[in-house]
Amino acid sequence: MKKIPLIIDCDPGVDDAFAIILANSLEELDIKAITTVNGNVGIDLTTRNALLLADLLDLDCTVARGAEVPLVKPLREKSNTHGSDGLGGCLNLFPKEIRKELSKEDAVTTIKNILMDSEEKVTIAAVGPLTNIALLLKLYPQVKEKIEVISIMGGAINNGNVTPCSEFNFYEDPEAASIVFNSGVPLIMSGLNLTVNATLTEENLNEMKAIGNKLSEIAVPMISDYISKDAAIHDPCAILAITHPEMFESEDLYVQIDTREGITRGMSYADYRSKNTNPPNCKVLTKMDTTKFREFIVNSIKL
Ligand code: RIB
Ligand code: CA
Repeated sequence: MKKIPLIIDCDPGVDDAFAIILANSLEELDIKAITTVNGNVGIDLTTRNALLLADLLDLDCTVARGAEVPLVKPLREKSNTHGSDGLGGCLNLFPKEIRKELSKEDAVTTIKNILMDSEEKVTIAAVGPLTNIALLLKLYPQVKEKIEVISIMGGAINNGNVTPCSEFNFYEDPEAASIVFNSGVPLIMSGLNLTVNATLTEENLNEMKAIGNKLSEIAVPMISDYISKDAAIHDPCAILAITHPEMFESEDLYVQIDTREGITRGMSYADYRSKNTNPPNCKVLTKMDTTKFREFIVNSIKL
């Protein structure tokens, strides 16, 4: 099978961890790099967590450190959804020693080099604030033609989780999100409208516990802590949108992000007006087969 070359830009983060675990389990994907950004926890922890996950999964890929702060807005204090360690309080379940060496190149340089060195287009899954991706597109616009699609977990249409209007990834760096949505690069958006359905049942958790391997012994406590605070496992949706588009319904829409100060900062909105003359800039996922989602998550733990 011809594999899809994939870069995962993330802020692990428990649901980011499950996006990486899922990507590792899908034969359709060839993970070229995991790049980190400040988000659920600070950049030191998201980067450490990416290295720990790469070790846990024996991933043969680059891990590179990205943006420490958003493009413009000052840092926001972190929520506790992912635990102070970013791993649902399960850091102690991971090996103490980190084997994987962090890349000497930063995330943006790493992504640029992979894209420009690749003979084929590369897909990016962006499941944290879009700071690295915006910097990439601004510093190296020539990479745009080497990107197959950017599959984004972020945003929402008429919904929010940090504020009534704004989703966390876009709220953390609205300017970056706006740059990406105005870049002309093909985008798929798994927003909250979709990802609120990305849940697991008690039966799913029991199935995962019964697997009883080194991955489930960490993944189950990690996801159990997380879903006690947020039932939706958002980030893996952006991975399945790449490999299994048939699981989803979508609309091609013109989406923009509000970068002004105030209650709507970070809000993503679609222009449904018939008089809208702007062409669609994003495939917005609207529905998904939740049963299939659950199957993929449970099976991703079976090494
Ligand atoms: O709003 C959900 C998103 O914010 C997810 O990517 C989660 O990991 C956090 O980064
Ligand atoms: Ca994330």
